[in-house]
Amino acid sequence: MTAPKLAITDSDPSSTAADAVVVGTVQGPDGLALAGGSEAVNAAFDGALLDLLDAVGASGKAEEVVTLPSAGKVSARVVLAVGLGKPAADGTVTEEQVRRASGAAARALAGRKRAISTLSALHLGPAIEGTVLGGYSFTTYKSDKGDGAVGKVDFVAPAEGNIRAHRATLKASTAIAEAVTTTRDFVNTPPNDLFPASFAERAAALAKAEGLEVEVLDEKALRKQGFGGILAVGGGSSRAPRMVRITYRGPKAGKKIALVGKGITFDTGGISIKPAAGMDEMTSDMGGAAAVIATVVLAAKLKYPLEVTAWAPMAENMPSGTAYRPGDVLTMYGGKTVEVLNTDAEGRLILSDAIVRACEDQPDYLIETSTLTGAQLVSLGKRTSGVMGTEEFRDRVAELGRAVGEQAWAMPLPEELRGDLESRVADLANVSGHRFGGMLTAGVFLREFVAEGVTWAHIDVAGPSFHSGGPYGYTTKGGTGVPVRTLAAVLADIAANG
Ligand code: BES
Ligand code: MN
Ligand code: ZN
Repeated sequence: MTAPKLAITDSDPSSTAADAVVVGTVQGPDGLALAGGSEAVNAAFDGALLDLLDAVGASGKAEEVVTLPSAGKVSARVVLAVGLGKPAADGTVTEEQVRRASGAAARALAGRKRAISTLSALHLGPAIEGTVLGGYSFTTYKSDKGDGAVGKVDFVAPAEGNIRAHRATLKASTAIAEAVTTTRDFVNTPPNDLFPASFAERAAALAKAEGLEVEVLDEKALRKQGFGGILAVGGGSSRAPRMVRITYRGPKAGKKIALVGKGITFDTGGISIKPAAGMDEMTSDMGGAAAVIATVVLAAKLKYPLEVTAWAPMAENMPSGTAYRPGDVLTMYGGKTVEVLNTDAEGRLILSDAIVRACEDQPDYLIETSTLTGAQLVSLGKRTSGVMGTEEFRDRVAELGRAVGEQAWAMPLPEELRGDLESRVADLANVSGHRFGGMLTAGVFLREFVAEGVTWAHIDVAGPSFHSGGPYGYTTKGGTGVPVRTLAAVLADIAANG
């Protein structure tokens, strides 16, 4: 996909040449109403814009797209009115309403050369993010590449703030949106092309282009250093596992942050094999790794005053004569032993190795994210991530996630679940003997490997990282890029507040 060219403009949106000018509509208390930012366009229509939109059935409901020919009233050929939904009692709309409406508009603008957005007058950053993300498509493997995203979008500057601040917002929001599309690209790349070695190579290339320090541990290095979890899970595949470390050291680096992401390039379940139906979606089981790789690169692009290290253990979980089996006892990195009772609970095994290694560097914060459990979908649904970990930090991560429009909810790590992981032969088992609270059990397992005193959070994105339905807002089919925007928000918050 080629991303649209983006710019901030002070010019009058009614007299700028373009294929389309985008205005917002809302479902006000008295029905359809125009959103802020549409004043100049409405004036060019002699105040009749609302009437015209009403005449063709516009309601202002979220993501509704209605197109009017401009009939020479404005320089753009059409007015594209996109619904923001219901405003708050004081008439304002949220950032997420603007992000979603901008995404819907971007989808409708596919193939056009040039557009002007007035949604940016409401919330600039969200308008930019929604435009880039809604216009995303993954066509690498399509013969017909389709229309492609809109070529160029000019964003009308909001009234408040100065041009320097607006340019900074353009830069930050574009970089954040690109980190999301990078993650989507990784997730959407099929498992025959994205396997541990090729994933590691692509990640390293991305990081090196940004001048970052990269280390890739191959199978031999993993064996030498004792990464028993990663080696066991990767052992059934003809494609050997890897572990990638990418470090960014910012200017006057303050806090040290470790990001850990699950990189299972395909999860068949292994010997505890999954049913055939829906197994194809396990191409997305490396979404956590993709997110942390894209995030450390983003931290460098935005020069956060932090030290950020991304750890991405990568393996393919396959059944074969060399695969690990239920009953095996693994010696993990750092020496703890784990009895494998189900080879489909593989994510926690590669993650524990990476978490122990990450903790050796004594980070101030450790954030791990993974498509870890089907139980996440059972408890919170397809779109809401489960956040666990150190209580205060867990709550902060979940709240920051919601603030940037990535639904997230804090979940507990009940003490009694540790007992269910007792093993007959090893320090602990990789699953409990029951299916209750599976997302929490996985979190309790991971906690065993977090070093004493390290503040940490675990974000289970099993549902939210992949979207199998039709597009909505700025969420397109396939990889969503969740939780990159949450991670970016957490890094920015730590940079600002410690
Ligand atoms: N990758 C899966 C979890 C998953 C399921 C992600 C659905 C996305 C959508 C994970 O490795 C897994 O198989 N988990 C098992 C754990 C169980 C064996 C304790 C699960 O959730 O069934
Ligand atoms: Mn699995
Ligand atoms: Zn998995």
